[in-house]
Amino acid sequence: MNEYNLNESYITNIKEKSVLSTKDLQVYYGDNHAIFDANLSFPRHEITALIGASGCGKSTFLRCLNRMNDKIARVEGEISYRDVNINSSKINVYEVRKHIGMVFQRPNPFAKSIRENITFALKNAGITKKNDLDERLEQSLKGAALWDEVKDDLNKSALALSGGQQQRLCIARSIAMRPDILLLDEPASALDPISTSKIEETLKTLSKDYSIIIVTHNLQQASRISDYTAFLHLGHIIEYNSTVNVFTNPHMQATEDYVSGNFG
Ligand SMILES: Nc1ncnc2c1ncn2[C@@H]1O[C@H](COP(=O)(O)OP(=O)(O)OP(=O)(O)O)[C@@H](O)[C@H]1O
Ligand SMILES: [Mg+2]
Repeated sequence: MNEYNLNESYITNIKEKSVLSTKDLQVYYGDNHAIFDANLSFPRHEITALIGASGCGKSTFLRCLNRMNDKIARVEGEISYRDVNINSSKINVYEVRKHIGMVFQRPNPFAKSIRENITFALKNAGITKKNDLDERLEQSLKGAALWDEVKDDLNKSALALSGGQQQRLCIARSIAMRPDILLLDEPASALDPISTSKIEETLKTLSKDYSIIIVTHNLQQASRISDYTAFLHLGHIIEYNSTVNVFTNPHMQATEDYVSGNFG
């Protein structure tokens, strides 16, 4: 592996339309310092990709953003959302996750019907009128581009869907809560190319209404769908810029090596 000066970075500042930002974020798993001084600002209603080699800290960083690391790591620094530091013990994490949803690498629908997968959290949140539930059900399944495939089978078990359909159901489940921000950790890596392209189209459409942060190790995917890209290397954010710049005119050698496939 090439030697780089990890203190050097090239981060563009896109604060003016920021929906979420981190300030001096550090993450430790015991003695293992996994994320160093992460300072990033995520733009509203855009897709931001987090890329970098396996083990560089992409998932760790993403999980901080809606407090999913609380029980497994020590997270220091600020995460600002609507002018509030949500990385504080005073903040209700369930409230945070209503605004900042997460979709994981492996589809994880509940062993319930398609309908219940969507309505379960809504009912817990106090939405109980049938009309309201039906409306949210249809809207979120349409948003995740799954409605046409399941509308006549809403009482069927979610586990009977294909992997790609299950992942779109998980996206629908997240957006049913009408979050501001959607975090996705390699949402298509377990899927075939056709399902992957459906997920990508879905995310592109959703980015009109949601701010999306996606971890991907698929560089073509990052360049196809994201507006901004952050490149992580050994726990450091080395470069952050518009995706076209990161891929065609990287400022840092480490970025250039990674995006050109020269892993050293
Ligand atoms: N639950 C955990 N407990 C302890 N260490 C962890 C845990 N999760 C991740 N790590 C460590 O943190 C570092 C970053 O891991 P992380 O999973 O965030 O990388 P990643 O970029 O998502 O990798 P991949 O592309 O393989 O998913 C690694 O050194 C990893 O071993
Ligand atoms: Mg990961």
